[in-house]
Amino acid sequence: MRPFNPSLLFTQSKLTSLILSLSLLLNFQNQKTQPFPPLELTQKAKTQTFRIKMENLFGLVDHEDLFSKRCIWVNGPVIVGAGPSGLATAACLREQGVPFMVLERADCIASLWQKRTYDRLKLHLPKQFCQLPNLPFPQHFPEYPTKKQFIDYLESYAAQFDINPRFNECAQCARYDETSGLWRVKTVSTSNGGATRNEFEYICRWLVVATGENAECVMPDIEGLGEFKGEVVHACDYKSGESFKGKNVLVVGCGNSGMELSLDLCNHNALPSMVVRSSVHVLPREVCGKSTFELAVLMMQWLPIWMVDKILLVLAWLVLGNIEKFGLKRPSQGPLELKNTKGKTPVLDIGTLEKIRSGDIKVVPGIKRFTNGFVELVNGEKQHVDAVLLATGYRSNVPCWLQEGEFFSKNGFPKSPFPNGWKGNSGLYAVGFTRRGLSGASSDAMRIAQDIGQVWKQETKQKKQRTTACHRRCISQF
Ligand SMILES: Cc1cc2nc3c(=O)[nH]c(=O)nc-3n(C[C@H](O)[C@H](O)[C@H](O)COP(=O)(O)OP(=O)(O)OC[C@H]3O[C@@H](n4cnc5c(N)ncnc54)[C@H](O)[C@@H]3O)c2cc1C
Ligand SMILES: NC(=O)c1ccc[n+]([C@@H]2O[C@H](COP(=O)([O-])OP(=O)(O)OC[C@H]3O[C@@H](n4cnc5c(N)ncnc54)[C@H](OP(=O)(O)O)[C@@H]3O)[C@@H](O)[C@H]2O)c1
Repeated sequence: MRPFNPSLLFTQSKLTSLILSLSLLLNFQNQKTQPFPPLELTQKAKTQTFRIKMENLFGLVDHEDLFSKRCIWVNGPVIVGAGPSGLATAACLREQGVPFMVLERADCIASLWQKRTYDRLKLHLPKQFCQLPNLPFPQHFPEYPTKKQFIDYLESYAAQFDINPRFNECAQCARYDETSGLWRVKTVSTSNGGATRNEFEYICRWLVVATGENAECVMPDIEGLGEFKGEVVHACDYKSGESFKGKNVLVVGCGNSGMELSLDLCNHNALPSMVVRSSVHVLPREVCGKSTFELAVLMMQWLPIWMVDKILLVLAWLVLGNIEKFGLKRPSQGPLELKNTKGKTPVLDIGTLEKIRSGDIKVVPGIKRFTNGFVELVNGEKQHVDAVLLATGYRSNVPCWLQEGEFFSKNGFPKSPFPNGWKGNSGLYAVGFTRRGLSGASSDAMRIAQDIGQVWKQETKQKKQRTTACHRRCISQF
């Protein structure tokens, strides 16, 4: 890869910017006639004509920026994030014949799965709801693939569709340049364990945000936690309960992470207490051997959501019994309605309830404060604690880097609810933000690729026609 680096060629002057603009223009229009090193093109992308007016290029070229950074023109969309959503979008674009560039802050694909999840993790939903477009899971995979199997699948997915992200590149800022009609994505790239730091600027027509709903950990602000002497670990750094054997561990949070970490701690002979500060829907993962999720999807085809919720709660009561007596109060809204309106995922039980029933996992109410190795709860109880696990969830990081206020709201999710949250204005797209897990990401990816593919094909056709016409004119002149 040879990035275009004008600073090596010229000194900063007005003349330079003129030549630079000309060079950019020539690059955009005809790769064969360029006087300077070629602008970076995505993988095996072919040159595409791009109608950019000369005066717009002057607007685009921010002199200081260009001379301190390396500027890379991307033919096709830039996809930020190489998790399942980014990979699915890239694969669908590949199918459409659209070139692309994937930028990833970590040094691997699917970094959430590879680096920020615990060892015992398995997919919660049956595999047919978790596969990405155009490549089913291998037949020998179990109904609920393990984390390792899912990562292997994603690796082969990337290989199959020839997806080669630029790793260790974190998007720091992206904004739409009204004058040129292009997106400018600034990144910082690190190598040698962070010792070398480079800045790049990608210029593209389409920007696909694929940084995920779970990009950053939520660290709660609890009185005394900063001074707590024992170990404090967020769920994203927890691997297994092995090192907690015999310890009193306070698990803060009762979502899927809190429930599974508590179970794992129990299985490693630790003594977990799980904080339930409000309410939670717990559903069995399966009812009579059939996935609860699958049943819900089936029922949703015929019944209104409130009725499906009622049926799910009756089934949950039949399979799990009354969970409120263990301190697990159910929310007033049904599980699907709550997911749709507040984004709160119901817990699919894979054995934690049994341990709660047996008393191996203690359920405690909200936390008041931490003091000298003790936790004080809102009911006045005090408990000795050796370690604290924060299963307090995650958040989107989009507002930290995307300078845009129309499509995304302040919480980093698209303002328009499903099914309209995938496309913004000016070539902006979002994949994997519908709170519908992997199946939601797949359907976003297909829509986005189709949308961009249509424009791409149209323009490719027009470009071919223009090139032929221009060629004829040149011949006639000589
Ligand atoms: C513990 C856990 C278990 C889960 N289990 C399931 C499950 O079983 N089924 C299911 O459907 N969903 C599950 N989920 C939800 C999960 O978020 C999705 O499965 C899936 O990972 C979403 O893919 P994504 O690509 O949208 O986001 P991510 O997987 O989070 O990928 C986003 C990528 O973007 C990169 N990135 C972020 N910011 C930047 C930046 N500024 N610049 C460059 N790169 C950036 C990240 O490093 C990451 O690699 C689980 C989530 C967690 C936390
Ligand atoms: N196997 C799997 O498929 C699997 C496993 C794990 C996670 N996941 C998915 O990953 C995503 C994130 O799940 P998650 O469980 O990490 O996060 P989550 O669902 O957002 O749950 C966070 C929990 O932390 C609690 N909490 C936050 N701040 C608190 C505080 N200060 N004091 C006490 N409690 C506090 C919340 O309580 P309130 O409700 O009161 O706010 C909630 O119970 C979800 O989509 C989930 O389904 C999937």
